[in-house]
Amino acid sequence: MNKSVIILAIESSCDDTSAAVIRDGVVLSNVMASQKIHEQYGGVLPEAASRAHQISIIPVVEAALHQANITKSELSAVAFTRGPGLMGSLLVGVSFAKSFALSLGIPMIAVHHIQAHVLAHFIDDPKPQFPFLCLTVSGGHTQIMLVRNHNDMEIIGTTLDDAAGEAFDKTGKLLGLPYPAGAVIDRLAKLGTPRFPFTEPDIPKLDFSFSGLKTQILRFLQRETKENPNFIQENLNDICASIQMRIVDFLMNKLIKAAKMHQIKDVAIAGGVSANSGLRDALEAAGKKYKWRTYIPAFQYCTDNAGMIAMSAYFKYLDGEFVGQDITPLARYEI
Ligand code: KG4
Ligand code: ZN
Repeated sequence: MNKSVIILAIESSCDDTSAAVIRDGVVLSNVMASQKIHEQYGGVLPEAASRAHQISIIPVVEAALHQANITKSELSAVAFTRGPGLMGSLLVGVSFAKSFALSLGIPMIAVHHIQAHVLAHFIDDPKPQFPFLCLTVSGGHTQIMLVRNHNDMEIIGTTLDDAAGEAFDKTGKLLGLPYPAGAVIDRLAKLGTPRFPFTEPDIPKLDFSFSGLKTQILRFLQRETKENPNFIQENLNDICASIQMRIVDFLMNKLIKAAKMHQIKDVAIAGGVSANSGLRDALEAAGKKYKWRTYIPAFQYCTDNAGMIAMSAYFKYLDGEFVGQDITPLARYEI
């Protein structure tokens, strides 16, 4: 019998330190330490993120090995996120992986963070069939990807400015909500009615833009609070429902256009914003209407996590794609 392939994977691209263990394509553990420190700054503070990763990385890796019931000596390789992300944060994961690989004498695998968000769909069943479309929406990215294979992805639509997650976070800030605001807006939107008519940005092709929407919402709030200083508090749920509906409709309209253009029936969403209940419901509804097979990752594999890095690394292991000790992190990293 062939020996099992067991990989330890590390994710440290932004403000979550995470480690996971995968054996023969099955994720055995996925441990996360989220950083609370950034809430008070209303955004991620790079220096604080890097320091928090340094504190968390060893306990998180130990917990991932322990939960998976795997010892270091059983590992076939160690994987890490090479980018894109914050340089100081990425460096912690890359340096840790290098020393770990060196001391154990095992190979290293470098993973692209956005590709990993897409490949999170291969962790659980049902798995998408190639080619499929993936709307990858996070705090840093908004892309429609045509996924031909696990190592062949083409960006067919992207944002010209802010990412969808940023649109949630920045409008949430205007409303006085804590960072990151996406999940909070999601929760409040469920209690409200989308009765404020924000208009959909008119952007050509399959691309997106969210900065105009942010300005539109800012002006709207300035106008309304001038007349009624309590406008936000009194209408918070309805404002959240209106913002969420506009963002979700914009994303879905482009995704529907892409599916028609490329005649694809397998459609997935990925990234932190794919945790949004409005987007998840809208994808299911479009799936029924257009007879798509739809794929939504489990919550733990939507926001940043090492399980998706492990899945990506497993494919790379099978392809024999290893890197040497001279590997460097890349804050900007094209697919
Ligand atoms: O993928 P992710 O964890 O990190 C990046 O790679 O950026 O995505 C984080 C983003 C944040 O902007 C956060 O507000 C958003 O995902 N997010 C949500 C929800 N949960 C997380 N946005 C809308 N609704 C949610 N439920
Ligand atoms: Zn991400």
